[in-house]
Amino acid sequence: MAGTAMAGAGSSEAARGYWDTRHRDHDDLASGGHIGLDRAGNEIFYALRLGALLPLIGDLADESAPLFVLDAGCGKGHFARALARCGHRVDAFDPSEEALAHARAQGGGPRYGTAALDEWRSPWPYDVVLCVDVLFHVLDDEEWRAGLRNLASLTRLTGRLILTDEDTAARRPRGDYIVHRPTGEYRALLEPLGLRHTGFTPYGFRENEVGFHVFTRIR
Ligand SMILES: C[S@@+](CC[C@H](N)C(=O)[O-])C[C@H]1O[C@@H](n2cnc3c(N)ncnc32)[C@H](O)[C@@H]1O
Repeated sequence: MAGTAMAGAGSSEAARGYWDTRHRDHDDLASGGHIGLDRAGNEIFYALRLGALLPLIGDLADESAPLFVLDAGCGKGHFARALARCGHRVDAFDPSEEALAHARAQGGGPRYGTAALDEWRSPWPYDVVLCVDVLFHVLDDEEWRAGLRNLASLTRLTGRLILTDEDTAARRPRGDYIVHRPTGEYRALLEPLGLRHTGFTPYGFRENEVGFHVFTRIR
């Protein structure tokens, strides 16, 4: 599987099986974080990324006017809970029932639903749509495009779509269920939909080249 693009409905089922098993067999951090790191490494990995993410979302929280945040592909809900603790109103979804059972048991504010990236619907648009370490796990290009288009449609005018991948010029398949896509592919899809690429903040974690791409809706 490494280095190959999977296609078709069977691939989605295989991917769901992979994530359900991973979420069942690994602890709350390794299952959605870095499967090759020990507990301490994943604590650092999550803490560093939260620290990099918060300035992108903003450091103001107002209970009477919370930001509406969507955590797409939330896994066990680590970022969703953290953003809810920061005063934001958080919706979160993932296709893995294993992950969601854990997330719901933790409570902490977010409203959870079961969906893939191209399936989530909302009666309101979001100030911030967040998608952490999901899109480069979607190997099928049509599924990736449909998911990204849906996330764009959920981002309000002047709102931000914050997604993670490497900032690369060439496609890089890396191991099972990973393909890093060039920044140009994200821009080519999102800019015609009204989202301008307004920044890239690398995780800055060891040799990891992934970071937060920020797309801002300008029209
Ligand atoms: C590496 S984990 C990241 C989880 C979470 N965002 C975090 O950072 O803790 C990847 C997540 O993407 C989810 N996922 C995989 N394919 C997806 C899809 N097509 N739509 C939405 N989520 C998907 C998996 O179930 C898994 O929970």
